[in-house]
Amino acid sequence: MNDVLPSEIATWQFLEGTVRELVTSYGFQEMRVPIVEETRLFKRAIGELTDVVSKEMYSFEMGDEKLTLRPEATAGIARALISNGMLRGARHKLWCIGPMFRHEKPQKGRYRQFHQLDVEAVGFPGPDIDAEIIAMTARLWRLLGITRVKLQLNSLGTPEARRSYRELLVAYFRSHEARLDADSKRRLEGNPLRILDSKNPDMREIIDNAPVLTEHLDAESREHFDALCAALTGIGIEYHVNPRLVRGLDYYTRTVFEWTTDALGAQDAVCAGGRYDGLIAHLGGASTPAIGFAMGIERVVELLVQAQKTPPPRPPDVFIVVNGRRASAEALKIAERLRNELPHRRFEMNLGGGKIGAQFGRADKSGAALALVLGDDEIARGVAGVKPLRQEAGQSECPIPDLAARIEAAIQH
Ligand code: HAM
Repeated sequence: MNDVLPSEIATWQFLEGTVRELVTSYGFQEMRVPIVEETRLFKRAIGELTDVVSKEMYSFEMGDEKLTLRPEATAGIARALISNGMLRGARHKLWCIGPMFRHEKPQKGRYRQFHQLDVEAVGFPGPDIDAEIIAMTARLWRLLGITRVKLQLNSLGTPEARRSYRELLVAYFRSHEARLDADSKRRLEGNPLRILDSKNPDMREIIDNAPVLTEHLDAESREHFDALCAALTGIGIEYHVNPRLVRGLDYYTRTVFEWTTDALGAQDAVCAGGRYDGLIAHLGGASTPAIGFAMGIERVVELLVQAQKTPPPRPPDVFIVVNGRRASAEALKIAERLRNELPHRRFEMNLGGGKIGAQFGRADKSGAALALVLGDDEIARGVAGVKPLRQEAGQSECPIPDLAARIEAAIQH
């Protein structure tokens, strides 16, 4: 679980600001859901046999309640739509951003508290919305200046098609059981599709020869997927169909996608999601099709840092040097008045006293364009010293009532 330090925050804010504007421009509305939900919500939505639910959840009991820190946002949003009576044929384009918790083994790009931008479009059968939200993610990379990402796409079909494919797959892996690693043997019973996701190189060959889901899709899912591929080609988005892309959460149906990068090592997924047409009904709501994705904020921040796309921190415009007891009380008033007059400017005042030389040192280090000098002598004469800090220029004086205009002129100079 990481601290985000002030030196890192400009990148986070740049990313969050860009995301907020982008999703709003596509008609998505922000929604905020609790960090704590009932454990059984995640068990039901994500699936008991998934890694997330079986190994990674921060769960605890309070009185007779079994609670969990959310490992992802989709289940909570689906729960919120049901419990707030927001379904009944309605359509929603929603997004949220915030911390998620998974007790995974930490490594670069994989943390126990991490942040996701989560986007959900509920009530849309697609495939037009599938194409639109993928186009939105592609636009985000362009806006951020991130180039080292690739789109992988697959269709998981309907639950029925997946069930018959699953039988095929189990039969295939059973016939090679001796060559399966321990993890895959464990998955064979509960979640055989996840074997396809194995990172073990010894499993490569046996996985490569396994039956492929895309060849066993039902007709409607096939049509849906072909239309999505055609739409993406039509808007010029490159994609790679990866029949092994199965995702780690059980609620997906039909479209699944993942943006991966070669810049982050093993943790290569930066944004991933898909369609979950059965989830809301499975949780007790009216049957409603939906699709969404989540983006790992830490991973995208790291891509921005690597690509040197981090915005420089914005320094104060004016640093106020204060010299003397009377000046100290007056400087506070003058600074507050200037903040009223120039609300777009940033003022930082020397607090806690100190020698003039040390104060000028702080002024210089702050990055401010200008120093104002308010000493007992200046106050007595109704003026302030004005000293540009980023160019060769001497200190001049300005009547205190004219300071706002003088600051503007000096900064724009
Ligand atoms: P997910 O694939 O589990 O999907 O996570 C989405 C993204 O969150 C990942 O691609 C990765 O960037 C980031 N992420 C996941 N775990 C960690 C971690 N331990 N540390 C850092 N980043 C991480 C979901 O969560 C789905 N709810 C997405 C979705 C929304 N599907 C439909 N709607």
